[in-house]
Amino acid sequence: MVDEKDLRERLAKLSLEQKVALLTGADFWTLNPEPAIGLRKITVSDGPSGVRGTRWDERDTSLLFPNPSALSATWDPEAAREAGRLMGAQARKMGVDVLLAPTINLHRSPLGGRHFECYSEDPLLTAEITRGFVRGVQSAGVGATLKHYVGNESETDRMTYDARIGEKDLRELYLAPFEAVAGEAWLVMAAYNGVNGHTMTENRRLVADVLKGEWGFDGVVISDWFAARSTEAAAEGGLDLVMPGPVGPWGDRLVEAVRAGAVAEEIVDDKVLRVLRLAARVGALEGVPAPAPAPLPEDTHARMRRLAGRAAVLLRNEGGLLPLTGVTKVALIGPNAVRLSAQGGGSAHVSPEYEVSPERGLRRALGDGVDIEVREGVYSHRILPTLPMDLARDPETGENGVRVDFAGEDGQVIASETRRSTRLVFMGDLPEGTRRVVLRTTFAVGEGGEHEFSVFGVGRYVLRVNGQETEVALAVDTGDPIEGLVRPPERRVRAALAAGETVDLALTLIHEPGALPLATIGLGYSPPRLDEDAELAAAVAAAKEADVAIVVVGTNDDVESEGFDRTGLALPGRQDELVERVAAANPRTVVVLNAGSPVLMPWADRVPALLWGWLPGQEGGNALADVLTGAIEPGGRLPTTYPAAEEDSPVLSTRPVDGAIDYSERFGYPVYGSRGVRPAFPFGFGLGYTTWEYESLAVEAGPGGGVVAEVTVRNSGERAGREIVQVYLDGGARLLGFAPVEAGPGERVTARVEVPARALSTWEEDGWSTPSGTYTISAGRSVADLPLTAEVTL
Ligand code: BGC
Repeated sequence: MVDEKDLRERLAKLSLEQKVALLTGADFWTLNPEPAIGLRKITVSDGPSGVRGTRWDERDTSLLFPNPSALSATWDPEAAREAGRLMGAQARKMGVDVLLAPTINLHRSPLGGRHFECYSEDPLLTAEITRGFVRGVQSAGVGATLKHYVGNESETDRMTYDARIGEKDLRELYLAPFEAVAGEAWLVMAAYNGVNGHTMTENRRLVADVLKGEWGFDGVVISDWFAARSTEAAAEGGLDLVMPGPVGPWGDRLVEAVRAGAVAEEIVDDKVLRVLRLAARVGALEGVPAPAPAPLPEDTHARMRRLAGRAAVLLRNEGGLLPLTGVTKVALIGPNAVRLSAQGGGSAHVSPEYEVSPERGLRRALGDGVDIEVREGVYSHRILPTLPMDLARDPETGENGVRVDFAGEDGQVIASETRRSTRLVFMGDLPEGTRRVVLRTTFAVGEGGEHEFSVFGVGRYVLRVNGQETEVALAVDTGDPIEGLVRPPERRVRAALAAGETVDLALTLIHEPGALPLATIGLGYSPPRLDEDAELAAAVAAAKEADVAIVVVGTNDDVESEGFDRTGLALPGRQDELVERVAAANPRTVVVLNAGSPVLMPWADRVPALLWGWLPGQEGGNALADVLTGAIEPGGRLPTTYPAAEEDSPVLSTRPVDGAIDYSERFGYPVYGSRGVRPAFPFGFGLGYTTWEYESLAVEAGPGGGVVAEVTVRNSGERAGREIVQVYLDGGARLLGFAPVEAGPGERVTARVEVPARALSTWEEDGWSTPSGTYTISAGRSVADLPLTAEVTL
């Protein structure tokens, strides 16, 4: 419990200038300390896939978790809590006090760029997973941040669009997960966009009145990065903290506004108290005991592996092809088999210490006796991979890696370092006075032939390959500064190189400091490779020879990222053709989807086994192997409806029209249901390695006006298994609750699902309403498979 009196006493010691200084960040990731009242610096960090830390730097490694939609696919708040607790512990280890997560906007359109970062299309599932995650993070003494409040379901023009959302939809859908956890979370992030005519950093109604007033949120409302644009309106709208700093619309201007009587000093005081409350909670105030230590458990990696496995959704398994048994020759095929997408792009990015590839995971699981042939099949990535570090050498030190020199106006080197990546992003951490960033490396050519190099980023660059210079200018035309970092344009250059030859590479970024302290430099590389037709043919030939073909297809961070939305639901490149041809060549074909949001799978009923593996984080290859071999049950269920065709999606467009997005259309399974549209895979769907009988459902009135449903199921298969028992209103119109259960073969288990009154309520003109009457409650394994129904009168 925070001692409020103590906070007030500390506040009373501060001048107006000192108070206002606490309301804008000190830099990109920290807040200003105030020694006069024993307040130390508070550090914040992204984000929902792991704790990145204060630099975007491959040397600052951290744990990379499965993407957030994967977490919600567990349908298990306890699993979310565990992920949160591990991230909290990781944050403590890194000196981070606040995690900028979870992202709890809804899966409104499957094209949303940050779909992978959000939990679900359903507000109740989102709320339950959010609660678990937030409790986990905060149990480690680290603040969790509910973001982005609210209406941030699109990335297109996200800085400026106005979401036009009716009150009923706001309450029942978009606000619901925030409301559910507002009493527990220590921070809420105000989004870039506006809602109903007011940008969210100035939205007095939704921030000051609803969030802080109605729901009693007592934490800090932090701006999304660079989202605060005004002095008075932001101060009065309820924003507490402008990020990043040190420049922003408050500072001296806010001091003047208070002196001039335009903003009441009590408003500033309330914000400072909130910052101090946060400080007390995270242990940043002298004299307030720090939260108990929260070390990472020794088996952290094993836990992450289990999470990724448990999240995997088995969508098809004809003839029990999975789990794999008795294989001796495997064809492992696909662009994502070679370059696994362990995570999506944007601020959620984390630099993991390692990533387990599908090949490595399978080799470990299947043992040395099994022959695995790996083929890319098709080339679906927009940009070339970075130069592998085992090839690259720093020309000065001879170490593995690349030399990076930062030079000033006069060409003098200000600083140098050896880096372990050829994709570098600088966010406020370029050495002062940098005008050139020069990346240099040498490597010995393996195979002779036509090699490709590429420059990617935004700005002016000079690429030198063995003395041959190419000038490159790259630009993006949207106003979003993040886009250049997350979806950089690329320019490729070819070079004929002989086997064994040593190549000298240098890439120079000519840095013209802009309004924002952002810069990026990227160097891509590909050794000689077959043309795509020949590669595809080779993959098909490998599939023919094998006892099983495992095809790993999917997206990557050129497709799924913050900063832009997807342009379509098809898999990039010729991946559909790859799947069709491999499946035709080998009747034992398993397709693994490596993606965070829905894609079209036109071949779905022509492949015997289909496993949705998500963006699985650093333990991806191990988790995948665990599920494919049956070491772990694929416990996931879809947290979102997967459409059969783009036009079936109730909301597809993410584009504002004349600066506004009309939110009047509803989405998700209720709309599929009411329109009678059959999706490719319904909400809540997922198979396991055993089967279940739904035997009985009993429903009775529960505490506080809710109901309690008891669902008895029997494991009717031959293996122990895990099932997510789901309870819906009116035959699938709305999810009311769920419970994971486990049982051995032949065993019976009863799931108890407590449905709070709110889940049964709707928002009517004057508030929440739960009319008395008879409610029809159904239970089953997905919204489309509800074998049990009962009625209850309230
Ligand atoms: C994102 C936030 C993130 C922030 C800091 C913004 O662009 O929208 O989710 O926390 O950057 O990286």
